[in-house]
Amino acid sequence: KTLDDLGDVAGKVALVRVDLNLPMKDGSATDVTRVEASMPTILELADAGAKVLLLAHFGRPKGQRHSTLSTSYVQGDVSRVLGREIMFISEVAGPVVEQSISILRNGDIGLLDNVRFWPGEEANDPEFAKGIAANADFYVNDAFSAAHRAHASTEGLAHLLPAYAGRAMEKELTALDKALGNPEQPVAAVVGGAKVSTKLAVLENLVGRVQHLIIGGGMANTFLAARGVDVGKSLCEHELTATANAIMDKADHAGCTVHLPYDVVVAKEFAANPPSLRTCNVHEVAADEMILDIGPQATEALADVLKTCRTLVWNGPLGAFETEPFDTATVALARTAAALTQDGSLVSVAGGGDTVAALNHAGVAKEFTYVSTAGGAFLEWMEGKELPGVAALTC
Ligand code: 3PG
Repeated sequence: KTLDDLGDVAGKVALVRVDLNLPMKDGSATDVTRVEASMPTILELADAGAKVLLLAHFGRPKGQRHSTLSTSYVQGDVSRVLGREIMFISEVAGPVVEQSISILRNGDIGLLDNVRFWPGEEANDPEFAKGIAANADFYVNDAFSAAHRAHASTEGLAHLLPAYAGRAMEKELTALDKALGNPEQPVAAVVGGAKVSTKLAVLENLVGRVQHLIIGGGMANTFLAARGVDVGKSLCEHELTATANAIMDKADHAGCTVHLPYDVVVAKEFAANPPSLRTCNVHEVAADEMILDIGPQATEALADVLKTCRTLVWNGPLGAFETEPFDTATVALARTAAALTQDGSLVSVAGGGDTVAALNHAGVAKEFTYVSTAGGAFLEWMEGKELPGVAALTC
């Protein structure tokens, strides 16, 4: 159910689970994308006359109050993004919340404190959830990025109150369904990042579902090593070469082409524009060199692959993109994907902290069909797992 299924909400108390786990610096948020994502839900409910209670976690305080992890720290940022005054409420249940609700007028917004201050949250304790539910008329989950947690605020509450998906949740699920649930084929997946070990389940799920699996970043080195390539002193999980071979075999049988680079950018040290920088064939990496990006020929070949595809799912950069010039392949391929999306020939969905940073760096995040606000939840979705927060809304 979505907000479209709600009747008249005037005067009702809406408990809205949002993700306010924002990156902070010097007391204010450095990225408010998650607040912006939930803004349509919050304002729609407030403008319809509901009393809106925002419920969120902030950091990992492990079941006790922590002076620097109160949601009051993000109150200013949330208020600024929404363009509304917000009342901070230092509890999530009990008489303080009850009294605060009586002060709120219809259309006002309250911000409850960090739900992870109470151990019942992560334990998904029904008694804890009941205490929160007692003050509300209905529950809206607009935090896809926390939906991989089976916690009281993400899962338990959905069983205790009439439960609805918020606009951001709805948008996210629609985009993800277009990308892997029911995609237009052929589908390409870009999986990059440092380590195969953190993305094994992702790779295993994708090989059976996509036609092209593009592997980049440090992960590609492990796959190259599995194919017998000497990767010099590159980041490489040698202990996972048998696993990498098994994934490539599985891909072969499933009709999925695994794309590994055949030229690479290498250097003797990891620094910006190092003097030892050069581009070479993967078979020419010297013992004292490390692979830091994929090369121009491989990048062009991957662009050609994307041109034949209708759907793209992207998680993880192709090279060490935070350091120049090892952002080159990631930026080039992101721009190709963005241009194909704008032409209408590609549905492009990306997610994960590094990926969003890389797309922003390439200046194309807004040109993708959808960029997820989620980190861990996006990965678990790519692993093919059912997310408890989503499942609870649909049962
Ligand atoms: C996130 O930042 O990815 C979500 O808010 C989930 O946070 P968590 O990993 O602490 O559960």
